[in-house]
Parts: sequence; C-alpha cells; structure tokens
Amino acid sequence: MAEDLYIVKEGSLQEKYESLIPQLKALIEDESDIVANMANVAAALKETFGFFWVGFYRVDGEQLVLGPFQGPVACTRIAYGRGVCGTAWKEGQTLLVPDVDQFPGHIACSSLSRSEIVVPAFKESKVCAVLDVDSDSLDAFSETDAVYLQKIVSLLKF
Ligand code: SME
Repeated sequence: MAEDLYIVKEGSLQEKYESLIPQLKALIEDESDIVANMANVAAALKETFGFFWVGFYRVDGEQLVLGPFQGPVACTRIAYGRGVCGTAWKEGQTLLVPDVDQFPGHIACSSLSRSEIVVPAFKESKVCAVLDVDSDSLDAFSETDAVYLQKIVSLLKF
C-alpha cells in the first residue's frame, strides 16, 4: 500500500481508531520484520492522535528493553514488576493510569508525562512486549483506548 495515512480529523475517538485499524493491517500484513512493524504502528499512532510518547518495550530476560517509539528519548531498560510497564508485564493486563503521580513506582522518563496506558503483547501466552502510550494531560485515556490499542497490539505477530 501507499505509505500514507488517511486521518479522520473530525469524528469520535472510536471513528478514528476504526479508520486507523484497516490501514495498519494493510501496512504491516506484507512485512514480517517485527521491528519495522512496531515502528510503523508507533508512527501511525503518533500521527493520528498526537500522543506525547508512544512506543514499545520488549521483554529481554528479566527486563523490558526500549523498542521503536515516537517522542522524547526514554528510559532504555525497565525491570520486571517495576513502573507501569513492568507491572503490566507482571500482571499480563492493560493498565490505565489517569494520574501517574498516584501510581506507586511510576518511572518518570519525562516529567511532562501525566497519564499513561500500557498494553501487553503476547507470544505463546506469555508477555513478549508492551505498548506504552503517555500523555502530557491528566486522565487522557479511556476504556475505548484500551479496547482499540489491544486490537492494534494483537495485529502484530511477534
Ligand atoms: N512511565 C513508564 C516508563 C516508560 S516511559 O513512560 C516512556 C513506566 O512507569 O513504566
């Protein structure tokens, strides 16, 4: 497909995700390289929603290691069970954090980050990576984001 993204400018959050998902499918379906696909997913999410930071951390032994992302430079390694990302890995579930200052152990890669959502990705029933999205506004994410970001993560074949 052409490497252009059609972005719904007017419309609900749901409509924006509904428009984005088939485009992401088309973008990644013929590419087997997971790094390339994570990179395009991060870029497409950044372009569509203007998130402050969006990217992936991949499981590497007992740590998460930074993968493709869009936004300011970030922490490169996060231990199992630490921060929002390490906790989402440990619990194997999406974490929605409306105020990062209220999350015990939150890792502040940027002091501008105010709310966050982390979605785990699975390979053979084990967490193999997480998608992390940060906003510089409080309470920026909803269950709608959780549902659609989970769908997007499930498109990726790790
Ligand atoms: N805040 C995350 C660390 C990653 S950065 O936000 C990009 C955490 O607490 O796990």
